[in-house]
Amino acid sequence: MDKEKLIRKFDNQSRVYEMRRKKQTERIWREKLIGSAKGKVLEVAVGAGANFHFYPPNVDVTAVDFSDAMLSKAKESAIASNVQATFIQSDIESISFPENSFDTIVSTLSFCGYEHPVKVLESFCRWCKPGGQILLMEHGLSSNRLIGSSQKIIEPIFLRIVGCHLDRNMITIFQQSPIHIDHMERYKFNTVHLVWASPNKGRLGSTASASISFPWAFRDTEEE
Ligand SMILES: C[S@@+](CC[C@H](N)C(=O)[O-])C[C@H]1O[C@@H](n2cnc3c(N)ncnc32)[C@H](O)[C@@H]1O
Repeated sequence: MDKEKLIRKFDNQSRVYEMRRKKQTERIWREKLIGSAKGKVLEVAVGAGANFHFYPPNVDVTAVDFSDAMLSKAKESAIASNVQATFIQSDIESISFPENSFDTIVSTLSFCGYEHPVKVLESFCRWCKPGGQILLMEHGLSSNRLIGSSQKIIEPIFLRIVGCHLDRNMITIFQQSPIHIDHMERYKFNTVHLVWASPNKGRLGSTASASISFPWAFRDTEEE
């Protein structure tokens, strides 16, 4: 989809995301994941700032989104949550930061929107310091056949209306990228992935990444 059109779609959804933030939807997952953030944090595709409420004290957040309307909601959220934050309006697929800039990189519900999700994870691995962490909460294709097939059927309509791919196979995307998954939990018929990862700098630029085995502490959970 044309980027300008996609940005307008997200601009138009900023109120919905603000409402979701106020209702604290996904609270349990956000609390769990964002509570691990520390130091200099990059939050990509920050939306209306749903994660600010969950950051521990003393983080310094750089927040990026290409939607101006989302960013203004996110700024209000940072102030309300007393989080030190700087905001950048940019496409995360074209922005660049110096290597090893951040202690933590956070992405929640953003990988459904990128044209090249593996490349975005490669960028995370470059921007993250060695020993730093990459925290992800992403939705994708269910491992349940019935739900997965339904996701594939609805996908074209969903993409046109919301601007978001519903049937991304996040496991394949993780496998093809240079992230090392330290811990993963999955919920809602494995459509939601909570991931604690680190940059595997040795695999950056490697064409063999897709064939490397997938070493993680794996736990499937179905509780809310
Ligand atoms: C589904 S919302 C999620 C917002 C927020 N991360 C959350 O957890 O509620 C997706 C957000 O990603 C932003 N986005 C999508 N693609 C992007 C891109 N390529 N560069 C920057 N922001 C992007 C949209 O503007 C929107 O704010």
